[in-house]
Amino acid sequence: MPINAIILAAGEGTRMKSAHPKVTHKLLEKPLIWWPVHAAREAGCERIIVVIGHGAQEVRDALADEQGIEFVEQAERLGTGHAVRCVRDAIGAFEGPTVVLYGDTPLVRAETIAALIDETRTNRNACTVLTFEPDDATGYGRVLRGDDGGIEAIIEHKDCTPEQRDELLECNSGIYCFCGSRLTANIDRIGNDNVQGEYYLTDMVGIYKELGEPVAALLAEDPDELLGVNSRIQLAQATYVMQDRINARLMDEGVTMLDPALVWVGPEASVGRDTVLMPMTMLWGATSIGEGCTVGPNTRLTDVTVADGCSIEETVGYSTVIDEGVTVGPRAYLRPGTHLCARAHVGTHVEIKNSTIGEGSKVPHLSYIGDTTMGSGVNIGAGSITCNYDGVFKHKTVIGNDVFIGSDTMMVAPVKIGDGALVGAASCITQDVPAGALALERSEQQMIEGYATQRMQQLKKQKERLNKKENR
Ligand code: UD1
Ligand code: MG
Repeated sequence: MPINAIILAAGEGTRMKSAHPKVTHKLLEKPLIWWPVHAAREAGCERIIVVIGHGAQEVRDALADEQGIEFVEQAERLGTGHAVRCVRDAIGAFEGPTVVLYGDTPLVRAETIAALIDETRTNRNACTVLTFEPDDATGYGRVLRGDDGGIEAIIEHKDCTPEQRDELLECNSGIYCFCGSRLTANIDRIGNDNVQGEYYLTDMVGIYKELGEPVAALLAEDPDELLGVNSRIQLAQATYVMQDRINARLMDEGVTMLDPALVWVGPEASVGRDTVLMPMTMLWGATSIGEGCTVGPNTRLTDVTVADGCSIEETVGYSTVIDEGVTVGPRAYLRPGTHLCARAHVGTHVEIKNSTIGEGSKVPHLSYIGDTTMGSGVNIGAGSITCNYDGVFKHKTVIGNDVFIGSDTMMVAPVKIGDGALVGAASCITQDVPAGALALERSEQQMIEGYATQRMQQLKKQKERLNKKENR
């Protein structure tokens, strides 16, 4: 029987004060909804159903990269019980363990979900509730336990008596594992006779107790996992927790961080051992850093692959491949389609786009290289650029091996510079340069002996006269 996950994400999240639905807000560059989807997958859930309502299209878009997610629209938000009923109405009765999660609770671990599924299966529970003991229980549904210690019911905060609010400190996390067939068979028993006039999914506990079906509660060890994000402050708190968790794992795996509070690594990025991450480093997307590298400070890499032994300093990079022993920065900008071959060097204030920089080639200072294929052993002088854009089309520059480009050269594409060619400084290259040739494009230097001295004397005298006039 497949394991299902229903993720509730129809709410608006008014406390975010946002034009966008709450679950599309990002935590370490992934939308909030991404996290429970992935935790559920990792815990073995095969079928993932996301209940959407407020900002439905934006939530779909936020999960556009994820395969095989089913969406169910809940047109009217009549409560968590109603949301699950909408799923049953949309896809029909289902079987198998069915985990219910919230789209705004991003810190739940896959292991916790797996334990919940396990408990439900082993004891054939109709429902297992994940409970926790938060520092402040205000607002949460409270767990009522019977004389035998088992769970009897969940009473929403607003429906509690003042005594219950003070005494019942074990809370409902909102995460459950149900038996799918018993859930779909009994979901219509939930009513809305309560303070909020909502259909509470929590009522299933009491309903099962009456039916004599086994229900259980599992107390989560780490209450941080159940931190819900309702406000920007909670979003920042959840980010700290996840950042801590990821950084602790990386340090355990052999990564050094000068200050772990100032390093942000997304959930899909990886870092090899003996790599040092300097402050203000962000590694997003499918970024992977090899062993023995130094990254940062002030570096943001998105979907960048870095091989072993590289140094990437003060750099912003997207969709770039960097081979071993490359040095980049400080202050380089690597745009999509960049490939820096082994031991290449890209230096200060250099921008590279959609280009290959060959083995051991150097672009050390103040250059723009776009749509270029460059061989090995090339040196690009300071301030040299490729003019790859004519205002409408982009054109290619091809530079062979062992080429020396003097400073301040403009290479107007399309253009080819052959192996071993030399281009004199300040040239504007508009024609192909054959292998081994010298290309020089600059006007002749003129010299007028003594002119500068005379001119300066004239100017100084002029100034003296003016000063005298003013003082008169
Ligand atoms: C719920 C639980 C409460 C628990 C708390 C934990 C119920 C009745 N109460 O309360 O016991 O302690 O979570 O955080 O379930 N949603 C929908 N459709 C709806 C209503 C809600 O998709 O019609 C989604 C919301 O977007 C949200 C989640 O379900 O992600 C929880 O809803 P919310 O209204 O926040 O429930 P709580 O009152 O916090
Ligand atoms: Mg809530």
